[in-house]
Amino acid sequence: MAITLKYLGHSCFQIGTLGKTLVIDPFISANELAKNIDLNSIPADYVLLSHGHQDHIADAETICKNTGAKLISNYEIVMWYKQKGIEGHPMNPGGNWDFDFGRVKMVNAIHSSSFPDGSYAGQAGGFVISNSETTFYFSGDTALTLDMQLIARTSPKLDFAILCIGDNFTMGYEDAILAAEFIDCNKIIACHYDTFAWIKINKQEVINAFKAKGKEIIFMNISEEQTL
Ligand code: NI
Ligand code: MN
Repeated sequence: MAITLKYLGHSCFQIGTLGKTLVIDPFISANELAKNIDLNSIPADYVLLSHGHQDHIADAETICKNTGAKLISNYEIVMWYKQKGIEGHPMNPGGNWDFDFGRVKMVNAIHSSSFPDGSYAGQAGGFVISNSETTFYFSGDTALTLDMQLIARTSPKLDFAILCIGDNFTMGYEDAILAAEFIDCNKIIACHYDTFAWIKINKQEVINAFKAKGKEIIFMNISEEQTL
């Protein structure tokens, strides 16, 4: 059994598992690097949002309205979208819920969270998603935090993790290596790098640093799909 993971740029991933399609943190139409992706052809049963910043929610409304996808995010974000006519399932860090594609646990992130108009967008989070095919962690935007050690102790063994590595707004790659240790996961997929000048990275330097610690970091091309 395997899941499909497609990279849509920045922190956005499309995941196919158990016949359902999840889209996490869609930021496509305003991402110059993702200009070849047709927003209106993206399928989704669920859209997950880690926090309220524009570079994570920009296309959530369009995708939800195009597809009828249900939103999964923190309470404040789900209520904000409810006013736009989008149905969602509200969560908050520490909570689990069993959906028809598997279990979602919202976990801590250290990061701010506001809507594009500056209003409060609840607490930033990450997600651990587990079902009979896979278990993985999506960090969202976060600093390295000791709380990541709890993921290894409270969730099934991770098959892979999607970690932010671009520095400045989130942890950089050196901290992401420690994060990989904390979550006990050797297969890391990179996100939140290169989209803006402040988060440009040297991929080879990152690859070498992970390799030196016995870990694998994967840089997916935008639109690339992997089976994991
Ligand atoms: Ni952010
Ligand atoms: Mn961000």
